[in-house]
Amino acid sequence: MAKIFVARALPGNAIQRLREAGHEVTVHGGSVPPTREELVAGVAEADALLSLLTDRVDGELLDSAPQLKAVANFAVGCDNIDLAAAAERGIPVGVAAHVLTDATADLTMALLLAAARNIPEGERDAREGRWKTWEPEGWLGRELRGAKLLIIGRGRIGQAVADRAEPFGMQISFAGRDDDLHAALAEADIVSIHCPLNEQTRHLIDAAALAAMKPHALLINTTRGGVVDQAALIEALHAGTIGSAALDVTDPEPPPADDPIYDAPNCLIVPHIGSATATTRAAMGNCAADNLLAALAGDPMPTPAPPPPAA
Ligand code: DGY
Repeated sequence: MAKIFVARALPGNAIQRLREAGHEVTVHGGSVPPTREELVAGVAEADALLSLLTDRVDGELLDSAPQLKAVANFAVGCDNIDLAAAAERGIPVGVAAHVLTDATADLTMALLLAAARNIPEGERDAREGRWKTWEPEGWLGRELRGAKLLIIGRGRIGQAVADRAEPFGMQISFAGRDDDLHAALAEADIVSIHCPLNEQTRHLIDAAALAAMKPHALLINTTRGGVVDQAALIEALHAGTIGSAALDVTDPEPPPADDPIYDAPNCLIVPHIGSATATTRAAMGNCAADNLLAALAGDPMPTPAPPPPAA
């Protein structure tokens, strides 16, 4: 029997599965993440940790958990985990890979359509008395057929977005690590970011990248807020360097109430809901449970995190 600390209550039956496997599971209650102190206390005697993207798992935390044998993140992203520190201590890390591709791609399309057709503005205007008549020149959006969609990242989610955008008649291209990003940005009407956050991609979309984009371009981010230099984005939206943004993720999350991102024009923000369907969240829990159960049995995790960056 192992002691497992789970950093938040989860949908689906992951916790039940861990208990049915005979493990002693402690779940951090409440709707907000454990504080650092609570997390340190939670892992102090734990053999395994089921962490969320809101939990910072670094060398210091790992050192406060002398028994720890496995970490499973309830996310496909793992920028909250110091993978090198885990590897140095021989602790395997798992991620919820594969299972949230469709949900995230669906949400990307929802943001794309909402921003392209002014849905938030139209909804507000309809409710707040600004819908006076059918307006030939009102709420004019962007046609998708023929629009050039640039997908940054060549992974599964980017491909799933491409599969959805293709039937709309969009012209799709990809930019990966080895491509000339600024040249690709200069061609695109819509840019959707689907690369992980790491030291190479932090602030990949900075002031220079934004300046390379078309003045009417729409930027969609459903990966991690840190891939975009948010101060530069706010400036670009105010200056009209780009046309609009649709963000599922911000930096930080959530932005404080007085964050200037809320005043940026043409900026649609939703609260990091890319994977938020009941089916996907249950599958993410199962993925985390599979990873922990395998590691605790001495087997390789079915969906391990990528290897840490070379030192
Ligand atoms: C992930 O799994 O990394 C997502 O951002 C959660 O929705």
